[in-house]
Amino acid sequence: MKKIKCYNYKIDKNDFVNAGKVSSEIKKNLKKIGFTNRIIRRIAVISYEGEMNIIIHSEGGEIDFEIYEDKIILKINDKGPGIDDVNLAMTEGYSTAPSEIRELGFGAGMGLPNINNCSDNFNITSSKNGTKIESTICLE
Ligand SMILES: Nc1ncnc2c1ncn2[C@@H]1O[C@H](COP(=O)(O)OP(=O)(O)OP(=O)(O)O)[C@@H](O)[C@H]1O
Ligand SMILES: [Mg+2]
Repeated sequence: MKKIKCYNYKIDKNDFVNAGKVSSEIKKNLKKIGFTNRIIRRIAVISYEGEMNIIIHSEGGEIDFEIYEDKIILKINDKGPGIDDVNLAMTEGYSTAPSEIRELGFGAGMGLPNINNCSDNFNITSSKNGTKIESTICLE
């Protein structure tokens, strides 16, 4: 299927000043193109939770955002240190966020479950060299 548009956004670790900027940029682009609010809301959740996990838990990474005729794919990749137990990390309420991160309002352990719930297709792999998430939203 033909790729219509793609975007790449770099995300730095601990960059709380710019937290949320990538997902609002993605939202803005989707609105401009004319996607429905329902689709935009799902993608906003996926990109926001992915962005925050890179900022909080990783050494930095990027989000590739690809629009096709029949689907949207988000690839959320970082440079490590990876997740020891991916099944555990996918459990609602599981979080290793330290107290200073919880004080900022993060660390409910809902990011990965939310990404999964908002995706039509979800895949996560992780090693010490990085975590890779691929999330697909079907458009038809
Ligand atoms: N990119 C990542 N790199 C390393 N560990 C991660 C990454 N993303 C998630 N994790 C691990 O998986 C756990 C669960 O992630 P999840 O996003 O569900 O919750 P959270 O980030 O702790 O809290 P919330 O997203 O609700 O603010 C994290 O606490 C962390 O231990
Ligand atoms: Mg999270």
